[in-house]
Amino acid sequence: MLAYRHAFHAGNHADVLKHLVLARVLRYMAAKDKPFRYIDTHAGAGGYQLKGAQALKNAEHRDGISRLYGRARLPEMLADYVNLVREFNIASDASLDAETQAAQRADKGYTPPLSLYPGSPSIARALLRPGDSMRLFELHPADVRTLAAHFDGQRGVQILHEDGFAGLKGQVPPQPRRAVVLIDPSYELVSDYGKTVASLREAVGRFAEGVYMVWYPIVRRVEAVQLPKRLAGLAPKGWLHVRLTVKDVDPQGFGLTGSGLFILNPPWTLHQELAAVLPTVVELLAQFEGAQFEIEEQPA
Ligand SMILES: C[S@@+](CC[C@H](N)C(=O)[O-])C[C@H]1O[C@@H](n2cnc3c(N)ncnc32)[C@H](O)[C@@H]1O
Repeated sequence: MLAYRHAFHAGNHADVLKHLVLARVLRYMAAKDKPFRYIDTHAGAGGYQLKGAQALKNAEHRDGISRLYGRARLPEMLADYVNLVREFNIASDASLDAETQAAQRADKGYTPPLSLYPGSPSIARALLRPGDSMRLFELHPADVRTLAAHFDGQRGVQILHEDGFAGLKGQVPPQPRRAVVLIDPSYELVSDYGKTVASLREAVGRFAEGVYMVWYPIVRRVEAVQLPKRLAGLAPKGWLHVRLTVKDVDPQGFGLTGSGLFILNPPWTLHQELAAVLPTVVELLAQFEGAQFEIEEQPA
């Protein structure tokens, strides 16, 4: 039985990095007039109550999205991501009719209280166009139910209560051959590292031109340290690797100090965009003096 529940971590610094980059990649894909598919191998519940018991336990969002939400004069890319969170809070308020929601969305001066945080499928849903499609894998029985409730009856969305590592190869290549794949395991089991590599290898073998994003934790574990190098070895063309460190290790020398994203076939604009926005992200999310970002890239 899986113990990991993303609700305990929703909106933390790792979600900020992941969803900031995801939103940018999806915008890039949507700028071209050709449909694409979004595939999320580890989708989670789709949305999270920040006032719920699980999110309140450690209130990780306080050192993540809460440091950005409602803040004026953010760089454009960061403001765009924060606005997606704002719009999710408006759209999820069942007490509002559609007209009021539209008026609140249009009023950029209005920011509702931050009570919900969108998961990766909801970030994607906001950016996909009518002809685009989504495939969402989630194994946890409770989370897959919540996920289904979020996307109930929506066209082009398929929710798969299956192992995303094993299922990815059956989803590629999509028709037409354009897709963004997010591989975002919890790494609750150390075998997730090897499964990430194996799953990506198979997918790239079938669909080399896909845009693949792998999230991983910055922790003192040999598998986590080796993962980026193993992923670079799979890249048929170019890749981009970004890391955000926000806090120091705990007194025992362990703990999640930040996270990384390894992207195969990234948009060519991404390196420059991240270099422009991440200094602000570091400044706002830093929990110690050594907070920093790193970007490395192997152009196509
Ligand atoms: C880090 S969370 C996903 C968060 C989500 N991608 C987001 O950004 O909002 C990882 C999720 O993967 C699910 N999970 C674990 N093993 C899985 C597997 N083999 N296949 C599909 N889902 C899995 C967990 O139940 C958990 O909800």
